[in-house]
Amino acid sequence: MGKVSESIRHPRPPPSGTRCGWIITGAVLSALILLAAFPPLSPGPDLSSAFSSAEPFVSHLEQLKENDSPYGIFPQADDPFRFLPCTPTTLPPPLDDSIAEQTWASRFDPNPDHWSWGVPREQENGTAGGSSYAGRGIFMCGYLDVPLDYTNKSDSRIARLAVTKFQVSGLARVGEPTNSSAGRKTERTIVIEPGGPGGSGTSYAWRAAENVTARFSDSQFDVLGWDPRGVNASIPAIACFPHDASRDHWSLLTSLHYAVSGSPRDQLEVADAMNAAVMRACWEKHGDLGRFLGTGLVARDLEQIRIALGEDELTGYLVSYGTGIGQTYANLFPDSVGRVILDGTEYVRDHRLRGGFGWTALDNATDAWHDGFLGECVNAGPEYCALAKPKDGKPVTLPDLVARMDALMSSLADRPIPAYLSSSGPSLVTYSAVVDNIYGALYNARSWPALAQALFELENGNSTLAASLLEISAWFYDPETPCSPTPIPSSDLELGNLVICADGYDAPGPDDLDWWLSLWGNMTTKNWIAGNSRFYGSLPCRHFLQYWPEPVGVYRGDLNHTLKHPVLLIAETYDPATPLRNGRRLLQEMGKNARLIAHHGYGHSSRDMSNCTETIARAYILNGTLPDAQETSCYADEKPYLYGVEKKVAAMTLGKPEDPVEAWRAHLAEMSFLDPQLRPAV
Ligand SMILES: *[C@@H]1O[C@H](CO)[C@@H](O)[C@H](O)[C@H]1NC(C)=O
Ligand SMILES: *[C@@H]1O[C@H](CO)[C@@H](O)[C@H](O)[C@H]1NC(C)=O
Ligand SMILES: *[C@@H]1O[C@H](CO)[C@@H](O)[C@H](O)[C@H]1NC(C)=O
Ligand SMILES: *[C@@H]1O[C@H](CO)[C@@H](O)[C@H](O)[C@H]1NC(C)=O
Ligand SMILES: *[C@@H]1O[C@H](CO)[C@@H](O)[C@H](O)[C@H]1NC(C)=O
Ligand SMILES: *[C@@H]1O[C@H](CO)[C@@H](O)[C@H](O)[C@H]1NC(C)=O
Ligand SMILES: *[C@@H]1O[C@H](CO)[C@@H](O)[C@H](O)[C@H]1NC(C)=O
Ligand SMILES: *[C@@H]1O[C@H](CO)[C@@H](O)[C@H](O)[C@H]1NC(C)=O
Ligand SMILES: *[C@@H]1O[C@H](CO)[C@@H](O)[C@H](O)[C@H]1NC(C)=O
Ligand SMILES: *[C@@H]1O[C@H](CO)[C@@H](O)[C@H](O)[C@H]1NC(C)=O
Ligand SMILES: *[C@@H]1O[C@H](CO)[C@@H](O)[C@H](O)[C@H]1NC(C)=O
Repeated sequence: MGKVSESIRHPRPPPSGTRCGWIITGAVLSALILLAAFPPLSPGPDLSSAFSSAEPFVSHLEQLKENDSPYGIFPQADDPFRFLPCTPTTLPPPLDDSIAEQTWASRFDPNPDHWSWGVPREQENGTAGGSSYAGRGIFMCGYLDVPLDYTNKSDSRIARLAVTKFQVSGLARVGEPTNSSAGRKTERTIVIEPGGPGGSGTSYAWRAAENVTARFSDSQFDVLGWDPRGVNASIPAIACFPHDASRDHWSLLTSLHYAVSGSPRDQLEVADAMNAAVMRACWEKHGDLGRFLGTGLVARDLEQIRIALGEDELTGYLVSYGTGIGQTYANLFPDSVGRVILDGTEYVRDHRLRGGFGWTALDNATDAWHDGFLGECVNAGPEYCALAKPKDGKPVTLPDLVARMDALMSSLADRPIPAYLSSSGPSLVTYSAVVDNIYGALYNARSWPALAQALFELENGNSTLAASLLEISAWFYDPETPCSPTPIPSSDLELGNLVICADGYDAPGPDDLDWWLSLWGNMTTKNWIAGNSRFYGSLPCRHFLQYWPEPVGVYRGDLNHTLKHPVLLIAETYDPATPLRNGRRLLQEMGKNARLIAHHGYGHSSRDMSNCTETIARAYILNGTLPDAQETSCYADEKPYLYGVEKKVAAMTLGKPEDPVEAWRAHLAEMSFLDPQLRPAV
């Protein structure tokens, strides 16, 4: 949700640069020039001996040597992903580049100091000594071309999928004994996908690959994330606005909540008219591509990734909407299913219903607010949650706090609260923005202390912190972004709508504005926190069929195919987006082909860590073993507001509380790739 407020780990900033664009270093520049003159030779297995031989082609060899690294040359021959050690320039070449492979190879930067190595682990014995990179994992960047339309052999168009792999063994130095594990791919690769639709798997890999492999495989397996077709660094990426600023200014008109739109009908007319304009823009910009973005085709892409990995069965950790990809994959390719965890489980059949991606998600967000955000605040007490500070000398009880928050929300609905920030000048704390930010906070309980602090200060007449948090989540365009020599492309936010609309293109039943108005009222009555956000995410589909009446490859089969191995579902009791009920409905259909962990905890997916869940998941990924029981209950180890507190108290390191604005930035960065559709209102 919101713009990416904090740049994630990668791409690493180039070694030298200025605020205004990047300065290409001499080494990179010479590599580019040299490779343009000398297309890379196919790197043989033993380059070191080639260099030591005194042959007449001295100048040629010297050139080559400059492009060589202590780890040889990349991409290596016959690598379907064409992996290069990642640097900031390793983005897939454009589709219209007729020498794409050469362009790509020229992006190889031979200086290992420019590569993105993993966090140093204990120096492993048996790896070549003397290098500070020995025993360190490495991030490798590549791409895979797949057919745009798997069902039509005469359509030669492709999608170019960006992939980022964390290779736990690092790289082998030239001349390193071949019995070393360095540079070898592992027996299985954990393929990850963060959800959305529209979440970036490469960004997820940058952020979480080292944690994912540590969590599920004791760092035994590589991790690979891919950007699904239409997303992020994959080509084409689907944005329908030329600039984020153009999208932002219209969002003011189209994000008002039901409770504050004087006439919901009038508000619906405005939002629907804008959606008509957006879908037209998608057609103008991307033509028939809207036919080729549904989940069925994304699942076929995943099968191509498995094949390119050379693994007999898929190992995966797929989250949120990623579980919808996983369910579709499992039933299209039942014999390819290895060890696949679906965490934050949706029931992908719901995509087939009109608005189903929205209205089936509403079960537990208000419970999470009541029992979690407020209830755990009272439990944690005033030292850890500002809203639990005594009022008029009396300790705070949960019913009091609920009443206070109801009063605050209702006053915001009557009239927004003015604010001033030196960074953005005059500002408003609005009802719609506060509710959407509450919804986002329920995804990630680590954000709760900051939001509680802001609501407490707001309640007490100081709107500064609340406005600060809302401002950093409101816009995709950031006027403070350093200037760039090339225009910054718009975020690919429309992709998510096109995926959902393709999945539900033939939904039965009425589609007129009266029906949608009734749905909006029902959704916001059932859930004042999630109802608006989920409604607005579904509404654009009214205008899909006009442009793309026949989406390709949509999966309409059952979800109970007999799989090579059962999958592991994890569904959370307080998940604001993928309620436990959906995981159970899926389990019901999958039967013996799945097991379910009912994860008792807060937030979206199993981020509220439970040793019980971790133990089951690790045994599954490492050994393929699963509990016998269809459903197992696991409980989170710690409570919100108190994460890590026991340890810190024991070690007497309880320092100053985290700065709420910084905590909020970290929260938004965590959310941005998980659910780009979760766009807060302004
Ligand atoms: C590496 O070898 C040294 C010396 O043989 C030994 O002391 C050390 O524990 C080993 N480290 C690991 C991680 O195995
Ligand atoms: C690898 O092989 C070399 C020589 O063939 C041997 O000296 C070395 O101990 C081996 N290393 C490991 C980790 O097995
Ligand atoms: C298959 O692709 C060809 C070439 O692009 C196109 O002319 C034809 O209409 C496509 N067929 C279908 C059924 O989409
Ligand atoms: C990843 O793991 C490290 C070490 O275990 C931990 O400090 C860090 O908080 C984790 N990061 C995330 C995003 O979970
Ligand atoms: C991919 O996503 C990351 C994180 O959201 C962003 O920083 C980056 O600019 C995106 N890259 C492209 C090519 O869109
Ligand atoms: C989640 O929603 C369901 C209704 O679908 C309800 O039965 C359940 O009690 C809720 N969970 C919690 C933890 O409140
Ligand atoms: C209002 O809150 C801000 C941010 O928490 C704080 O810096 C400021 O001092 C507060 N203003 C007053 C008048 O208390
Ligand atoms: C909204 O709820 C009412 C009452 O339960 C129901 O009759 C109506 O069909 C619902 N509308 C939609 C669009 O689901
Ligand atoms: C899957 O469920 C359908 C009913 O929805 C049933 O007809 C079919 O036999 C089931 N298939 C398997 C393999 O169990
Ligand atoms: C985690 O769970 C495992 C298996 O139930 C147990 O053996 C272990 O002691 C637990 N560890 C912690 C830190 O609770
Ligand atoms: C995997 O199986 C082996 C052998 O049965 C066992 O020792 C090990 O503890 C298991 N690993 C996990 C993570 O369960």
